[in-house]
Amino acid sequence: MRVLVVGGGGREHAIAEACARHGHEVLCTPGNPGMAALARQLDSPQDPGSLAALAVREGADLVLVGPEAYLSAGLVDACRERGVLAFGPTRAAARLESDKAWSKAFMARHGIPTAAYRAFSKLSEAVAYAQGQSLPVVVKDAGLRAGKGVTVAQSHAEAEAALRDIFSQPGAQAVIEEFMTGQEVSVLALTDGERYALTPPSQDHKTIGEGDTGPMTGGMGVVCPFPLGEAELAFIRREIIERTLAGLRAEGLPFCGVLYAGLMLTPQGPRVVEFNVRFGDPEAEAVLPLLASDLAQHASDAAQGQLDPAQVHFRDGASAVVILAAPGYPASPQLGIPLSLPDPGPGEAVYHAGTALMGGRLVSAGGRVLAVTATAPTLEAALGRAYALADRVEFPGAQLRRDLGFRLGLATPVGLRPGAATR
Ligand code: GLY
Repeated sequence: MRVLVVGGGGREHAIAEACARHGHEVLCTPGNPGMAALARQLDSPQDPGSLAALAVREGADLVLVGPEAYLSAGLVDACRERGVLAFGPTRAAARLESDKAWSKAFMARHGIPTAAYRAFSKLSEAVAYAQGQSLPVVVKDAGLRAGKGVTVAQSHAEAEAALRDIFSQPGAQAVIEEFMTGQEVSVLALTDGERYALTPPSQDHKTIGEGDTGPMTGGMGVVCPFPLGEAELAFIRREIIERTLAGLRAEGLPFCGVLYAGLMLTPQGPRVVEFNVRFGDPEAEAVLPLLASDLAQHASDAAQGQLDPAQVHFRDGASAVVILAAPGYPASPQLGIPLSLPDPGPGEAVYHAGTALMGGRLVSAGGRVLAVTATAPTLEAALGRAYALADRVEFPGAQLRRDLGFRLGLATPVGLRPGAATR
């Protein structure tokens, strides 16, 4: 197949690699310098109609969409209108991620377990409600904020500041939720709207600081698989994934693509923290290296309403992703820092998340810059390999978390030099 991958981050680099390793011809738009080694890079129009027209012009058999912004802008609808197969939800179904107030109401309508909440479109009412809540309280921007629209407020003043920030945008809405305790886990389902296959569960690390401190980011590293028990997994399948797919079908919004359930394993059982409508980033960089079967084939089958979950196979073993972020991230990442990358060995990869070529030199061009990934028979070994590879990256001032996997009781891998990759 000729596959067009839309996006230019670490997730799209991993998607492009997963397609290329099964012999598909890969095109990418806008892509990134890392993807250029395995995909032909195309200039990137922004609007869905022009992107779909590009897919037609280039003779793409399949469009794989990475970032949520393209999905909620209607790229899949535009592709379908032009007769191009696209793997991802329609604009209407993408609302599950792009409108958190709608998403929470959807969960309530279909009895999908999630935190109690209220949605607001007026600052004064939201602040008054937040003042009456016990702490900590969760304040979310209902719109897309690249994973940074959530504040776990430890004081009412912090909740008010978060709400003021949200309502500084015209037409904003906020969701205020009860705080849930437990481990977070990302469960991703490849689906044609009815049938689905789960990827191995994984765990992201969302704050910039070790021990889950500091501001939220798009995700600083992933361990995979996360050890879910059989009963927990059965509950997640039945009460969350299947209920959601059935609910979407019942509302006339059949969902093709990746349904990403961000879950909290509370003492009362798994609860949805949020839904996303695409591969997680950096979850994709952890999960896709473990996929033994052919992503492009599954995506094409799903886009035609014919996914066969029995054909979806993951290798045994584990993977770990260490994000190297720019100094100043998430508030004001420093761009233009020269990078020098090691050659990855088998089972290793350095995915480009935010890089550019400047005068022929590879430099940082975003907040999260590189996703350093390794697979191994065990999670401890995967972490050890990923940190050792990260240690060979030259990236002055890079920020990384050295405590990935700490919630699973995994010690910082032996051999990691204190201060490695932060120079
Ligand atoms: N890793 C979090 C996300 O993709 O939204």
